[in-house]
Amino acid sequence: MARAPGIKVRSRDAERARRLLKQQGALDTNLRVKHGNGVVFPLAKPSVELGDIPYRAVEEDFEERRHGDAFQRLLAKLGCRLSSFDVIGDIAILEIPEGFEDHGEEIGEALIEARKSIKVVLKKSSAVEGEERLRRFGHLAGERRTETVHREHGCLFKLDVSKVFFSPRLSYERQRIMEQVREGEKVLDMFAGVGPYSIVIARHRPARIAGYDINPHAIEYFKVNIRLNKVAERVEAVLGDSTRLAERQGFDRAIMNLPRKGREHFASALEVIKKGGGMIHYYGSSSRENPFEEELHLLESCALEAGRRIRVKGRRIVRSYSPSEVHIAVDLEVIA
Ligand SMILES: C[S@@+](CC[C@H](N)C(=O)[O-])C[C@H]1O[C@@H](n2cnc3c(N)ncnc32)[C@H](O)[C@@H]1O
Repeated sequence: MARAPGIKVRSRDAERARRLLKQQGALDTNLRVKHGNGVVFPLAKPSVELGDIPYRAVEEDFEERRHGDAFQRLLAKLGCRLSSFDVIGDIAILEIPEGFEDHGEEIGEALIEARKSIKVVLKKSSAVEGEERLRRFGHLAGERRTETVHREHGCLFKLDVSKVFFSPRLSYERQRIMEQVREGEKVLDMFAGVGPYSIVIARHRPARIAGYDINPHAIEYFKVNIRLNKVAERVEAVLGDSTRLAERQGFDRAIMNLPRKGREHFASALEVIKKGGGMIHYYGSSSRENPFEEELHLLESCALEAGRRIRVKGRRIVRSYSPSEVHIAVDLEVIA
Protein backbone atom coordinates (compact mmCIF):
# COMPACT_ATOMS: atom_id res chain seq x y z
CA MET A 1 0.00 0.00 0.00
CA ALA A 2 1.09 3.56 -0.64
CA ARG A 3 -0.33 6.77 0.88
CA ALA A 4 -1.05 9.31 -1.83
CA PRO A 5 -3.28 12.27 -2.68
CA GLY A 6 -6.35 11.51 -4.73
CA ILE A 7 -9.71 12.79 -5.84
CA LYS A 8 -13.06 11.17 -5.20
CA VAL A 9 -15.86 11.42 -7.80
CA ARG A 10 -19.32 9.88 -8.18
CA SER A 11 -19.33 6.55 -10.04
CA ARG A 12 -21.40 8.04 -12.85
CA ASP A 13 -18.69 10.69 -13.48
CA ALA A 14 -15.77 8.26 -13.22
CA GLU A 15 -15.19 7.62 -16.93
CA ARG A 16 -15.22 11.32 -17.79
CA ALA A 17 -12.93 12.08 -14.85
CA ARG A 18 -10.49 9.33 -15.85
CA ARG A 19 -10.26 10.73 -19.37
CA LEU A 20 -9.59 14.26 -18.14
CA LEU A 21 -6.97 13.11 -15.61
CA LYS A 22 -5.20 11.08 -18.27
CA GLN A 23 -5.20 14.00 -20.68
CA GLN A 24 -3.54 16.13 -17.98
CA GLY A 25 -1.06 13.39 -17.04
CA ALA A 26 -2.49 13.64 -13.53
CA LEU A 27 -3.34 9.99 -12.93
CA ASP A 28 -0.78 8.00 -10.95
CA THR A 29 -0.73 4.80 -13.01
CA ASN A 30 1.52 3.02 -10.49
CA LEU A 31 -1.40 2.89 -8.05
CA ARG A 32 -4.77 1.18 -8.35
CA VAL A 33 -7.98 3.19 -8.67
CA LYS A 34 -10.38 2.45 -5.76
CA HIS A 35 -14.03 1.58 -6.33
CA GLY A 36 -16.70 1.52 -3.66
CA ASN A 37 -18.90 4.37 -2.58
CA GLY A 38 -17.75 6.46 -5.56
CA VAL A 39 -14.40 6.19 -7.33
CA VAL A 40 -11.06 7.44 -5.99
CA PHE A 41 -8.27 8.23 -8.45
CA PRO A 42 -4.65 8.41 -7.21
CA LEU A 43 -2.94 11.58 -8.38
CA ALA A 44 0.52 12.05 -9.85
CA LYS A 45 0.32 15.86 -9.51
CA PRO A 46 -1.53 18.12 -7.10
CA SER A 47 -3.52 20.40 -9.40
CA VAL A 48 -6.22 19.01 -11.64
CA GLU A 49 -8.97 20.53 -13.78
CA LEU A 50 -12.19 18.54 -13.94
CA GLY A 51 -14.55 21.12 -15.44
CA ASP A 52 -18.11 20.64 -14.17
CA ILE A 53 -17.43 17.28 -12.46
CA PRO A 54 -17.90 17.56 -8.67
CA TYR A 55 -15.01 16.02 -6.72
CA ARG A 56 -13.42 15.92 -3.29
CA ALA A 57 -9.66 16.00 -2.61
CA VAL A 58 -8.59 13.09 -0.36
CA GLU A 59 -5.47 11.38 0.87
CA GLU A 60 -5.72 7.60 1.03
CA ASP A 61 -3.85 4.29 0.95
CA PHE A 62 -3.76 2.85 -2.57
CA GLU A 63 -2.72 -0.61 -3.66
CA GLU A 64 0.42 -0.55 -5.79
CA ARG A 65 0.35 -1.95 -9.32
CA ARG A 66 3.50 -3.90 -8.62
CA HIS A 67 3.00 -6.53 -11.33
CA GLY A 68 1.77 -4.33 -14.17
CA ASP A 69 4.89 -2.24 -13.73
CA ALA A 70 7.29 -5.02 -14.66
CA PHE A 71 5.85 -5.24 -18.15
CA GLN A 72 5.36 -1.50 -18.67
CA ARG A 73 8.80 -0.71 -17.27
CA LEU A 74 10.48 -3.22 -19.53
CA LEU A 75 8.76 -1.82 -22.61
CA ALA A 76 9.70 1.71 -21.57
CA LYS A 77 13.31 0.66 -20.91
CA LEU A 78 13.56 -1.00 -24.33
CA GLY A 79 11.76 1.89 -26.02
CA CYS A 80 9.41 -0.71 -27.50
CA ARG A 81 5.92 0.37 -28.57
CA LEU A 82 3.81 -2.77 -28.54
CA SER A 83 0.47 -2.55 -30.31
CA SER A 84 -2.45 -3.82 -28.23
CA PHE A 85 -2.42 -7.60 -27.91
CA ASP A 86 -5.12 -10.26 -27.88
CA VAL A 87 -5.87 -12.44 -24.90
CA ILE A 88 -7.69 -15.69 -25.69
CA GLY A 89 -8.45 -17.58 -22.50
CA ASP A 90 -5.12 -17.62 -20.65
CA ILE A 91 -3.03 -17.15 -23.79
CA ALA A 92 -1.68 -13.73 -24.79
CA ILE A 93 -0.77 -13.18 -28.43
CA LEU A 94 1.75 -10.43 -29.14
CA GLU A 95 3.09 -8.87 -32.27
CA ILE A 96 6.74 -8.16 -31.57
CA PRO A 97 7.74 -5.02 -33.49
CA GLU A 98 10.61 -5.15 -35.97
CA GLY A 99 13.94 -4.63 -34.28
CA PHE A 100 12.77 -6.12 -30.94
CA GLU A 101 12.73 -9.80 -31.98
CA ASP A 102 15.63 -10.61 -29.62
CA HIS A 103 13.62 -9.33 -26.64
CA GLY A 104 10.50 -11.43 -27.32
CA GLU A 105 11.07 -13.92 -24.51
CA GLU A 106 11.94 -11.22 -21.99
CA ILE A 107 8.77 -9.29 -22.94
CA GLY A 108 6.68 -12.47 -22.67
CA GLU A 109 8.02 -13.26 -19.22
CA ALA A 110 7.38 -9.73 -18.01
CA LEU A 111 3.80 -10.01 -19.23
CA ILE A 112 3.25 -13.26 -17.33
CA GLU A 113 4.64 -11.59 -14.22
CA ALA A 114 2.34 -8.60 -14.76
CA ARG A 115 -0.91 -10.40 -15.53
CA LYS A 116 -1.59 -13.34 -13.26
CA SER A 117 -4.34 -14.69 -15.52
CA ILE A 118 -1.92 -15.18 -18.44
CA LYS A 119 -0.14 -18.53 -18.49
CA VAL A 120 1.15 -18.64 -22.08
CA VAL A 121 2.61 -15.90 -24.27
CA LEU A 122 2.84 -16.46 -28.02
CA LYS A 123 4.04 -14.25 -30.83
CA LYS A 124 2.43 -13.97 -34.24
CA SER A 125 4.69 -15.65 -36.81
CA SER A 126 2.50 -15.18 -39.87
CA ALA A 127 -0.58 -13.38 -41.11
CA VAL A 128 -3.98 -15.13 -40.99
CA GLU A 129 -3.84 -17.33 -44.08
CA GLY A 130 -5.64 -19.89 -46.21
CA GLU A 131 -9.22 -21.11 -46.44
CA GLU A 132 -9.26 -22.02 -42.77
CA ARG A 133 -7.95 -18.57 -41.74
CA LEU A 134 -5.11 -19.86 -39.56
CA ARG A 135 -2.02 -18.14 -38.23
CA ARG A 136 1.34 -19.57 -37.15
CA PHE A 137 2.70 -18.75 -33.70
CA GLY A 138 6.00 -18.92 -31.87
CA HIS A 139 6.36 -19.58 -28.15
CA LEU A 140 7.66 -16.69 -26.04
CA ALA A 141 7.00 -17.57 -22.41
CA GLY A 142 5.00 -19.68 -20.00
CA GLU A 143 3.48 -23.12 -20.55
CA ARG A 144 4.09 -24.79 -23.90
CA ARG A 145 0.57 -25.22 -25.19
CA THR A 146 -1.83 -23.58 -27.64
CA GLU A 147 -5.15 -24.90 -26.27
CA THR A 148 -7.22 -22.82 -23.88
CA VAL A 149 -10.77 -22.00 -22.75
CA HIS A 150 -12.03 -18.50 -23.53
CA ARG A 151 -14.99 -16.91 -21.75
CA GLU A 152 -17.32 -14.47 -23.52
CA HIS A 153 -20.93 -13.33 -22.95
CA GLY A 154 -21.42 -16.02 -20.32
CA CYS A 155 -20.24 -18.77 -22.72
CA LEU A 156 -17.10 -20.93 -22.73
CA PHE A 157 -15.09 -21.65 -25.86
CA LYS A 158 -12.45 -24.36 -25.84
CA LEU A 159 -10.06 -24.03 -28.76
CA ASP A 160 -6.52 -24.41 -30.01
CA VAL A 161 -5.30 -21.09 -31.39
CA SER A 162 -2.93 -22.86 -33.81
CA LYS A 163 -5.63 -25.11 -35.31
CA VAL A 164 -8.69 -22.86 -35.56
CA PHE A 165 -9.58 -19.22 -36.14
CA PHE A 166 -10.82 -17.27 -33.13
CA SER A 167 -10.88 -13.53 -32.52
CA PRO A 168 -11.86 -12.00 -29.17
CA ARG A 169 -12.16 -8.69 -31.04
CA LEU A 170 -15.48 -9.85 -32.52
CA SER A 171 -17.11 -10.09 -29.11
CA TYR A 172 -19.24 -6.99 -29.64
CA GLU A 173 -20.32 -8.24 -33.07
CA ARG A 174 -21.56 -11.49 -31.56
CA GLN A 175 -23.60 -9.61 -29.00
CA ARG A 176 -24.93 -7.16 -31.59
CA ILE A 177 -26.17 -9.93 -33.85
CA MET A 178 -27.49 -12.07 -31.00
CA GLU A 179 -29.65 -9.15 -29.88
CA GLN A 180 -31.36 -9.05 -33.29
CA VAL A 181 -32.37 -12.73 -33.29
CA ARG A 182 -36.02 -13.34 -32.46
CA GLU A 183 -37.65 -16.35 -30.86
CA GLY A 184 -38.06 -19.37 -33.12
CA GLU A 185 -35.74 -18.19 -35.89
CA LYS A 186 -33.72 -20.57 -38.05
CA VAL A 187 -30.16 -19.24 -38.28
CA LEU A 188 -27.30 -20.36 -40.53
CA ASP A 189 -23.77 -19.61 -39.27
CA MET A 190 -21.99 -20.15 -42.59
CA PHE A 191 -18.38 -19.87 -41.40
CA ALA A 192 -18.79 -20.92 -37.82
CA GLY A 193 -15.29 -21.79 -36.54
CA VAL A 194 -15.54 -23.15 -32.99
CA GLY A 195 -19.08 -21.76 -32.79
CA PRO A 196 -18.90 -18.38 -31.01
CA TYR A 197 -21.74 -16.72 -32.98
CA SER A 198 -23.95 -19.85 -32.88
CA ILE A 199 -23.41 -20.50 -29.19
CA VAL A 200 -23.77 -16.90 -28.01
CA ILE A 201 -27.08 -16.74 -29.91
CA ALA A 202 -28.27 -20.11 -28.59
CA ARG A 203 -27.42 -19.24 -24.97
CA HIS A 204 -29.45 -16.04 -25.10
CA ARG A 205 -32.19 -16.66 -27.68
CA PRO A 206 -34.60 -19.59 -28.24
CA ALA A 207 -33.57 -20.08 -31.89
CA ARG A 208 -32.29 -23.03 -33.93
CA ILE A 209 -28.82 -22.61 -35.39
CA ALA A 210 -26.86 -24.67 -37.93
CA GLY A 211 -23.13 -23.86 -38.00
CA TYR A 212 -20.83 -25.04 -40.79
CA ASP A 213 -17.08 -25.14 -41.13
CA ILE A 214 -14.65 -26.87 -43.48
CA ASN A 215 -11.95 -27.15 -40.80
CA PRO A 216 -12.35 -30.49 -38.98
CA HIS A 217 -10.56 -29.15 -35.87
CA ALA A 218 -13.00 -26.24 -35.70
CA ILE A 219 -15.97 -28.59 -35.87
CA GLU A 220 -14.46 -30.88 -33.21
CA TYR A 221 -14.13 -27.92 -30.83
CA PHE A 222 -17.52 -26.57 -31.89
CA LYS A 223 -19.08 -29.87 -30.76
CA VAL A 224 -17.18 -29.72 -27.46
CA ASN A 225 -18.40 -26.15 -26.98
CA ILE A 226 -22.01 -27.11 -27.69
CA ARG A 227 -21.72 -29.57 -24.79
CA LEU A 228 -19.82 -27.15 -22.52
CA ASN A 229 -22.54 -24.52 -23.00
CA LYS A 230 -25.46 -26.96 -22.89
CA VAL A 231 -27.02 -25.83 -26.16
CA ALA A 232 -27.27 -29.20 -27.95
CA GLU A 233 -31.04 -28.76 -28.32
CA ARG A 234 -30.57 -25.59 -30.35
CA VAL A 235 -27.27 -25.89 -32.22
CA GLU A 236 -26.00 -28.31 -34.82
CA ALA A 237 -22.30 -28.28 -35.88
CA VAL A 238 -21.66 -29.58 -39.39
CA LEU A 239 -18.36 -30.30 -41.09
CA GLY A 240 -18.84 -29.07 -44.63
CA ASP A 241 -18.90 -26.32 -47.19
CA SER A 242 -21.73 -23.94 -46.44
CA THR A 243 -21.62 -22.47 -49.92
CA ARG A 244 -22.98 -25.69 -51.39
CA LEU A 245 -26.17 -26.07 -49.45
CA ALA A 246 -28.73 -26.30 -52.20
CA GLU A 247 -30.80 -28.73 -50.14
CA ARG A 248 -30.87 -26.56 -46.98
CA GLN A 249 -33.01 -23.52 -47.46
CA GLY A 250 -35.62 -21.62 -45.52
CA PHE A 251 -33.34 -19.77 -43.07
CA ASP A 252 -34.45 -16.53 -41.43
CA ARG A 253 -30.89 -15.32 -40.97
CA ALA A 254 -27.41 -16.08 -42.31
CA ILE A 255 -24.12 -14.97 -40.72
CA MET A 256 -21.25 -14.62 -43.19
CA ASN A 257 -18.12 -14.19 -41.11
CA LEU A 258 -15.50 -14.72 -43.82
CA PRO A 259 -14.47 -11.14 -44.61
CA ARG A 260 -12.01 -11.59 -47.45
CA LYS A 261 -14.23 -14.01 -49.37
CA GLY A 262 -17.65 -12.70 -48.41
CA ARG A 263 -18.39 -11.34 -51.87
CA GLU A 264 -17.69 -14.69 -53.55
CA HIS A 265 -20.21 -16.42 -51.33
CA PHE A 266 -22.94 -13.82 -51.14
CA ALA A 267 -25.04 -15.58 -53.80
CA SER A 268 -25.03 -18.74 -51.65
CA ALA A 269 -26.27 -16.76 -48.65
CA LEU A 270 -29.09 -15.26 -50.73
CA GLU A 271 -30.14 -18.77 -51.76
CA VAL A 272 -30.59 -20.09 -48.24
CA ILE A 273 -32.77 -17.21 -47.01
CA LYS A 274 -36.41 -18.23 -47.06
CA LYS A 275 -38.78 -17.01 -49.78
CA GLY A 276 -40.55 -14.54 -47.52
CA GLY A 277 -37.25 -12.78 -46.74
CA GLY A 278 -34.76 -12.59 -43.89
CA MET A 279 -31.45 -11.08 -42.81
CA ILE A 280 -27.84 -11.53 -43.91
CA HIS A 281 -25.03 -10.34 -41.66
CA TYR A 282 -22.24 -9.70 -44.10
CA TYR A 283 -18.58 -9.09 -43.26
CA GLY A 284 -16.13 -7.70 -45.77
CA SER A 285 -12.77 -6.04 -46.09
CA SER A 286 -12.77 -2.63 -47.79
CA SER A 287 -10.67 0.41 -48.42
CA ARG A 288 -10.60 2.82 -45.51
CA GLU A 289 -11.25 5.72 -47.88
CA ASN A 290 -14.52 4.36 -49.16
CA PRO A 291 -15.55 1.42 -46.99
CA PHE A 292 -19.17 0.85 -48.06
CA GLU A 293 -20.09 2.29 -51.43
CA GLU A 294 -18.32 -0.11 -53.78
CA GLU A 295 -19.02 -3.14 -51.60
CA LEU A 296 -22.73 -2.36 -51.38
CA HIS A 297 -22.92 -1.79 -55.10
CA LEU A 298 -21.46 -5.26 -55.73
CA LEU A 299 -23.84 -6.89 -53.26
CA GLU A 300 -26.83 -5.16 -54.85
CA SER A 301 -25.81 -6.37 -58.33
CA CYS A 302 -25.41 -9.87 -56.99
CA ALA A 303 -28.88 -9.76 -55.40
CA LEU A 304 -30.40 -8.45 -58.62
CA GLU A 305 -28.85 -11.32 -60.55
CA ALA A 306 -30.27 -13.77 -58.04
CA GLY A 307 -33.70 -12.19 -58.41
CA ARG A 308 -33.78 -10.86 -54.83
CA ARG A 309 -34.01 -7.39 -53.36
CA ILE A 310 -31.87 -6.25 -50.44
CA ARG A 311 -32.02 -3.26 -48.12
CA VAL A 312 -29.23 -2.03 -45.85
CA LYS A 313 -30.42 -2.08 -42.24
CA GLY A 314 -27.12 -1.30 -40.55
CA ARG A 315 -23.43 -0.92 -41.24
CA ARG A 316 -20.29 -0.33 -39.22
CA ILE A 317 -16.53 -0.50 -39.35
CA VAL A 318 -15.57 -3.36 -37.08
CA ARG A 319 -11.85 -2.63 -36.90
CA SER A 320 -8.79 -1.70 -38.82
CA TYR A 321 -6.86 -4.34 -40.78
CA SER A 322 -4.10 -2.02 -41.97
CA PRO A 323 -3.62 1.70 -42.61
CA SER A 324 -5.55 1.33 -45.88
CA GLU A 325 -7.95 -1.54 -45.18
CA VAL A 326 -10.89 -1.93 -42.76
CA HIS A 327 -13.11 -4.79 -41.67
CA ILE A 328 -16.77 -3.92 -42.23
CA ALA A 329 -20.08 -5.38 -41.09
CA VAL A 330 -23.30 -4.81 -43.03
CA ASP A 331 -26.76 -6.00 -41.96
CA LEU A 332 -28.85 -6.64 -45.04
CA GLU A 333 -32.53 -7.35 -45.14
CA VAL A 334 -33.51 -9.68 -47.96
CA ILE A 335 -36.95 -8.40 -48.81
CA ALA A 336 -38.22 -11.21 -50.99
C1 LIG B 1 -12.92 -15.79 -40.17
S1 LIG B 1 -13.22 -17.42 -39.58
C2 LIG B 1 -14.64 -17.14 -38.56
C3 LIG B 1 -14.87 -18.18 -37.52
C4 LIG B 1 -15.95 -17.83 -36.49
N1 LIG B 1 -17.16 -17.33 -37.11
C5 LIG B 1 -15.46 -16.87 -35.43
O1 LIG B 1 -15.99 -15.76 -35.32
O2 LIG B 1 -14.54 -17.21 -34.67
C6 LIG B 1 -13.88 -18.20 -41.00
C7 LIG B 1 -14.12 -19.69 -40.87
O3 LIG B 1 -14.77 -20.15 -42.07
C8 LIG B 1 -14.28 -21.44 -42.42
N2 LIG B 1 -14.57 -21.61 -43.84
C9 LIG B 1 -13.90 -21.11 -44.92
N3 LIG B 1 -14.53 -21.44 -46.07
C10 LIG B 1 -15.64 -22.16 -45.72
C11 LIG B 1 -16.73 -22.75 -46.44
N4 LIG B 1 -16.77 -22.70 -47.78
N5 LIG B 1 -17.72 -23.39 -45.76
C12 LIG B 1 -17.67 -23.44 -44.38
N6 LIG B 1 -16.66 -22.91 -43.65
C13 LIG B 1 -15.67 -22.27 -44.29
C14 LIG B 1 -12.82 -21.42 -41.99
O4 LIG B 1 -12.35 -22.71 -41.74
C15 LIG B 1 -12.88 -20.54 -40.70
O5 LIG B 1 -13.01 -21.34 -39.56
